[in-house]
Amino acid sequence: MGEAMTGLKRSHMCCDVSEELIGSEVTVMGWVQRRRDLGQLIFIALRDRTGLVQAVVDGNNSAPELFKKAESVRSEYVLAIRGKVAPRTEGNVNKNMKTGAIEIIAEELRILSESETTPFQVEDEITVKDDLRLKYRYIDLRRPCQLKNMILRHKTAQVIRNFLSDEGFLEIETPVLGKSTPEGARDYLVPSRVHPGSFYGLPQSPQLYKQLLMVSGMDRYYQIAKCFRDEDLRADRQPEFTQVDMELSFVDVDDIIDVNERLIKKVFKEILDVDVPIPMQRMKYKDAMERYGSDKPDVRFGMELHNITDIVRGTEFVVFKNAIEAGGSVRAINANGCGHYPRKQIDSLVEFVKTYKAKGLAWIVVNDDGSLKSQIAKFFTPEKLQEIVDALEGRPGDLILICADADRIVFDSLGALRCEIARRQELTRPDDFRFLWVTEFPMFEWDDEENRYVAEHHPFTCPMDEDLPLLDTDPSKVRAKAYDMVLNGFELGGGSIRIHRRDIQQKIFSLLGFSDEDAQERFGFLLDAFKYGVPPHGGLAFGFDRIIMLMTGSSSIRDVIAFPKVKDASCPLTDAPGTVDDKQLDELGIAIVKTEENEETNE
Ligand code: AMO
Ligand code: AMP
Repeated sequence: MGEAMTGLKRSHMCCDVSEELIGSEVTVMGWVQRRRDLGQLIFIALRDRTGLVQAVVDGNNSAPELFKKAESVRSEYVLAIRGKVAPRTEGNVNKNMKTGAIEIIAEELRILSESETTPFQVEDEITVKDDLRLKYRYIDLRRPCQLKNMILRHKTAQVIRNFLSDEGFLEIETPVLGKSTPEGARDYLVPSRVHPGSFYGLPQSPQLYKQLLMVSGMDRYYQIAKCFRDEDLRADRQPEFTQVDMELSFVDVDDIIDVNERLIKKVFKEILDVDVPIPMQRMKYKDAMERYGSDKPDVRFGMELHNITDIVRGTEFVVFKNAIEAGGSVRAINANGCGHYPRKQIDSLVEFVKTYKAKGLAWIVVNDDGSLKSQIAKFFTPEKLQEIVDALEGRPGDLILICADADRIVFDSLGALRCEIARRQELTRPDDFRFLWVTEFPMFEWDDEENRYVAEHHPFTCPMDEDLPLLDTDPSKVRAKAYDMVLNGFELGGGSIRIHRRDIQQKIFSLLGFSDEDAQERFGFLLDAFKYGVPPHGGLAFGFDRIIMLMTGSSSIRDVIAFPKVKDASCPLTDAPGTVDDKQLDELGIAIVKTEENEETNE
């Protein structure tokens, strides 16, 4: 139940009630943050999107009904308060509050709606489980920190739109009900009622449409686009997320890099007042892997990888020997100053790398007196051990960590390990923004499970000109005109120059194992479009949620998405996904195969 607003109009947002308004009448509306009773005085902190303002009901100077009503007010009631702005008395001024110098002496108070006790407090510091927060996400979003994220997200989108529009990009929407575009993840499918047995695929990205728009002569396109990928959730991955997606005609790699550097510079300046130096650092994929074990290196700290294969080649330690003989490598990092780690902590690092498929981790501690301690000392001469330490510039107090395995595993393990140690040692600050481009990605990756090449980026990416001949001789060596923008260990965005020659596109499809018929069936419309005049083109897409996550210092993109999904891709608020009526299924010609598993989940 609640009173009507009739006759009252909001004059100010809570935080806009300022000292300049002292003596004037204002009307504010919002939620009760808290009520404090001091005998004949009742203080109500009223909150809206802008923040808090204090209203006072004075029992000695107001109608008894008003005072009584004020007494009945509880947290999260929605009120309208009309009154005069007055300075707070000395001693009551709150310097930590934007409106802390004034208060509103209430002359009228209406309870627009009441509230039950909320499942958790509406304030930044709360200790409740995420699931509860997300079940009551509409209350969670009332908390200032969440609200701040939403506002920053909005403002950032606004800056992006203006920048791209000024640069000659057209904002064009592409279908959500479309044909599935292969980008490495599973598609979300939508059954068609009109064509039983047929499905739309929700877009993993607008990739194919944006290329068609280039064929249409749109020249420059962008879209803040919803994308859908049925993949496992992580802190930086949601099944439904937003891209800032763009495509440009008559450009090469440098043009796309340039416009996106300026875009990011503008966003960080306008929203955070942070100066991003451009041009940004560029690093070839190969160097990123060699030095950081990652194609999205966090370059805020060193701890680079060193290849010590040649140093340990020919030594007797079977673990190293086997790895080298199998074509792998032995690499190490120097965790400066971590030599004091107790054994238990070193063991936890060994366990840590096992999650990246490493079979183990060897370590050498450089003691304060320069002597060495290692669990593998017995396999090496003291000179050899010292040679390893020297290669890593080990000094007293350092901890050297060594991994031997196939390159992929060594890179993954040490790449993640250096980040884990940086986290434990608190080597980084979230507001230290280090951008770089990773370039010259390999075109293909060999997929052991499927026993074929898969595209590292996507099948429309153009090989580097000088590598074209390798398509026939050694596809694994072909590098792509692809680039990722990386920030603090996260892939912010990625893109490529596209293939605009039909013959090369067909060759790539066949290398990826698509027969001519397959390719025609899946991408025929794109190949056909390429018959009618296609400009050279390329583009990029940013993960918008990731940009906002890093700008706000959040630890997950969940905190910057209004209604995110949880780990099993469900929504605790609406309980989506849910079952549907048999009638709906009949119309779609769909029958659910009952298995033990879905019997349980559908109960
Ligand atoms: P890509 O697949 O690299 O490229 O995606 C571009 C960016 O989107 C973000 N991203 C995600 N964010 C949240 N949750 C996810 N599940 C998720 N998956 C990706 C990342 C990533 O860098 N069509 C191409 C772009 C192009 O070539 O122009 C594409 O989608 O930040
Ligand atoms: P093992 O002889 O297998 O017990 O290994 C001896 C030591 O080498 C153990 O402390 C392991 O943690 C370490 N180790 C095992 N596998 C590897 C590896 N692939 N790379 C580096 N060190 C390893």
